[in-house]
Amino acid sequence: MTRIPPIKIPADAWDELNFPRPEESEFDRVVERAISRRGFLGGVVAFGSGAVAMSAGLLPGGTAEAAAPQSRFPFTPIATQTDYAFHVPEGYKARVLVSWGDPLYDGVAEFNHETGGSVEESDKVFGENTDGMETFEIGGHQILAVNNEYVNSDINLPHTEDGVPQSAADVLKLQNLQGVTVVEIAEGADGWSVVRSSPFNRRLHHNAPMAISGPAAGHPLMKTEADPDGRAVLGTLGNCGAGKTPWGTYLTCEENFNGYFGATEETSYSDDVAAGYERYGMAAESQYGYEKFDPRFDTSKTPNEPHRFGWVVEIDPTDPGSTPVKRTALGRFKHENAEVTLAPDGRVVVYLGDDERGEFLYRFVSTHPYVTGGDTDGLLDDGTLYVAKFNDDQTGEWLALTPETTGMEPADILIFARMAGSKVGATTMDRPEWVAVNPYAVEAYCCLTNNKNRGVKANAGGDATPVGGPNPREANKYGQIVRWYPDGDDHAADTFRWDLFVMAGNPEVHSDAYAGSSNINSGNLFNSPDGMAFDTSGLVWIQTDGEDSNEGDFAGMGNNQQLAGDPATGEIVRFLTGPRGGEITGLCWSADRRTMFVGVQHPGGSWPAEEGLPRSSIMAIKRDDNGLVG
Ligand code: FEO
Ligand code: CA
Ligand code: CA
Ligand code: CA
Repeated sequence: MTRIPPIKIPADAWDELNFPRPEESEFDRVVERAISRRGFLGGVVAFGSGAVAMSAGLLPGGTAEAAAPQSRFPFTPIATQTDYAFHVPEGYKARVLVSWGDPLYDGVAEFNHETGGSVEESDKVFGENTDGMETFEIGGHQILAVNNEYVNSDINLPHTEDGVPQSAADVLKLQNLQGVTVVEIAEGADGWSVVRSSPFNRRLHHNAPMAISGPAAGHPLMKTEADPDGRAVLGTLGNCGAGKTPWGTYLTCEENFNGYFGATEETSYSDDVAAGYERYGMAAESQYGYEKFDPRFDTSKTPNEPHRFGWVVEIDPTDPGSTPVKRTALGRFKHENAEVTLAPDGRVVVYLGDDERGEFLYRFVSTHPYVTGGDTDGLLDDGTLYVAKFNDDQTGEWLALTPETTGMEPADILIFARMAGSKVGATTMDRPEWVAVNPYAVEAYCCLTNNKNRGVKANAGGDATPVGGPNPREANKYGQIVRWYPDGDDHAADTFRWDLFVMAGNPEVHSDAYAGSSNINSGNLFNSPDGMAFDTSGLVWIQTDGEDSNEGDFAGMGNNQQLAGDPATGEIVRFLTGPRGGEITGLCWSADRRTMFVGVQHPGGSWPAEEGLPRSSIMAIKRDDNGLVG
C-alpha cells in the first residue's frame, strides 16, 4: 500500500495527485484536433437568444470589438495581479469579514498563528477553507451559512511531520474545522463582523448528527453497526458548493468524500460495494489518516460508511436546534453546488454537477409543487433524478434515471448515481462545477472547469470522452461555460437547446481553439471557471479555481479572480483578483444588496495579514458610495 502524503493542496488537486491520469497527448496532435473543431465552433452561432453572444463568443481569437463596450458593468475592470493581495476596482473596498480560526463565541481564544488553535476550541471557531455560502434573514438578523471544504493539516497540526495526525485528538481537530459554519453577522461603523455568541452560531462538522431521508434511507448499503436503521449519520464533509431553497433553507454539497476513507486491513468487499469504491475513487489510504484513529473512516471495519456521504444536505440556518437532513433523492456523487429553481407549475428543479473528469450533469425534478407557506419537508425526498445528454446538433435531453431505464433498483440508482448515468448513455463532461440559473431568462449555465482527459482517457466507469458537443477541445486546460435553454421555457422539460457562453483560452499564446472564444481578449484572460452566480441586475459572476503560474499557456492570466459576464452580449470583464495561491469561491450578498461576500480558499503567502499563517477568509465588498453591488 503506497503512502499517500497528507493534503497540502486543494481537494480537487488531491484527487488528481492520487489518481494520476496520463500526461496530455503530444502537442501537435492537440492543436490539430482543436483546429479541426473550428468549423463546428463557427456553426454554434446560429440560434436563439444567444445568437449575439455566440457570434461574439465562439470564433477563435480575441478581437478588439469584443473588449470595447463596458457600459453594462458598473465598474472599471481591473488588470491581472500576481501579488499576495486582494484587489477590487476603483470606487470599491474589500475588508475581511471572517477568517479561519476566528472565535464564534465570547471567551474563545483569538487565532493563534503558532498552533492554528487548540483542539478543545476547534469546534467553536470559524472553519478553514471556505467555499459555497448563502445569507439568510430572520427577524432582522443576518445569518451566513458557509461551507468549510477541507483543511491544511500541516498548518493545523504544527507538532506533526507534514500534518499526519498522531492521535485521535489530532484527527478530531481536523474534523472540527471542516463541514459548515453557521454564523450571525452584522454591519456596524467599522463594517461587517461576526456576532459572537449569537444563538444562531453553529458548527456542523464531521461529527454533527444528521438524518438521512429519501428513497435510499434505510437501504442495507446505508446501514452500519452504529446505525442499524440506515437513517442517522454523523457529519457532513467535502462541503463544496451550496444552494438555497425558495423556503429559506441551505443546501450544502458533499464533494470529494472519497478522500476521507481508508482501510487499515486488506479487506474483500461485496461486489456492489467494491464496484462503487472503484467508480467513486476510494483509495486504501485517506488524505488525513482518519482511519487510523477513527474506525468510522476505516472501510475494513465500516464498509458502508462511505455510502452515507456524497449527498446534498439540507440545513435550516434559522433554527439552531434543527437536524440537518441528507436528501438522497438528489443522488450520490461528487456534488459541486445545488442550483434551485421552479418550473412554471411550481415543481422544484435542482441542477447538480458531478465534479470529476468525464462525469455527468444532473437534474432533480420534484413530484410535488412548492406552495408558498406549504409543507416543504418532503419536497426534496420525492422526485426524479435525470442526467444530461448533449447532442452535437445543439439539442439535448434529460434522461430519467428509473428502474426501467437503468435496470437498477430505486435506492441503487441514487447510491450509485454515476453507474445509473453510464447505463443511460449520459454525456461525459469536462468537470461540471457550479450551475447558475438566470433569474431574467429561462436559461441555465454550468462551468466546465477543465479536463486533461478529454479525448485522452475514459472516465472511471469506462465511458468514452470524445471531443465534441459542449466539450469541444482535447485535453482541455482552460475550461468553458455551457448554457442551455429548456424547451417551452420550462426547467422541468425533458429537452433543451444549448450553446457555449464562453470558451476560456489564451489568444496571446495560441491561434487555434485554445485561443478561446472571441469574447476572450487580452483584458479578461482567465482559466478554469468554477463558482458562478447571477445578481439581481442580471449579470453572471464567474469565479476561477485555476492555474495561477502566470506562465506559458497561462501567461497573462495572473491570480485567480472573479469576472462579470453579460448574458445578452457575451462580454466578460474582470472585477477582482485574489491573493496568489488561492482560489476565489463562494459568493452571496447582504439582504440590502449593498455588500457582496466573496470567499478566498487556500491563499498563499501570509494573506490576509502581513505575516503569520495564510488564512482562508470571506471578504465583504462595498462601493464607496454605499451603492448596490448586485
Ligand atoms: Fe470543490 Fe469542484 O470544487
Ligand atoms: Ca477548491
Ligand atoms: Ca469548486
Ligand atoms: Ca475547482
